[in-house]
Amino acid sequence: MKILILNGSPRPDGNTAAMIRTFQNAVKPEHEVNVIRVCRKNIRGCLACEYCHNQGNGECIQKDDMQEIYALLKDTEMLILASPIYYHGISGQLKCVIDRFYSALYPKAPECLKKTAMFLSSGDPDMEAGAKFSYEGDFLGYLGLEGMGIYTNHDPDYMKNIAEMAASL
Ligand SMILES: Cc1cc2nc3c(=O)[nH]c(=O)nc-3n(C[C@H](O)[C@H](O)[C@H](O)COP(=O)(O)O)c2cc1C
Repeated sequence: MKILILNGSPRPDGNTAAMIRTFQNAVKPEHEVNVIRVCRKNIRGCLACEYCHNQGNGECIQKDDMQEIYALLKDTEMLILASPIYYHGISGQLKCVIDRFYSALYPKAPECLKKTAMFLSSGDPDMEAGAKFSYEGDFLGYLGLEGMGIYTNHDPDYMKNIAEMAASL
């Protein structure tokens, strides 16, 4: 299975990165895992120009580093959104990427994309409601992907649970 992990943290060795490492160490080697550190990329917000849904035929008019993610999304089977919580939501850098999914995943995601999961890290507990709400509404609800869990760093078993989910794939 092709798995794409989008890391929304700017910190190379932060808590989100540790969750991703746990996943990578536990996942079977037959899977291909790509991790994109979105904060190292030049990815602008959606322009709402609707070019993608009109003459663009699903292609975004903005030619920035999002093109790398669009290319990966074409055959991604599992998408993992990993982010620190900033003011009750995911990081702004990852939010820009998700808004740019407008051309590639909406109104319909590629057939191959079936599963998703979310890794969230916050300073205080119970700060994830905003991030969970949009993930559940869009990725589980609207796109109908199979949710493989939401993992948060204030759950005492979160690393074990991530490793178990990874190994189960
Ligand atoms: C700009 C900014 C905003 C933050 N906002 C919150 C917040 O609203 N609630 C919270 O619990 N932690 C907040 N934090 C703390 C981070 O969510 C926390 O340190 C997280 O574990 C960092 O993950 P990372 O190490 O993967 O970058 C914020 C940190 C920054 C830099």
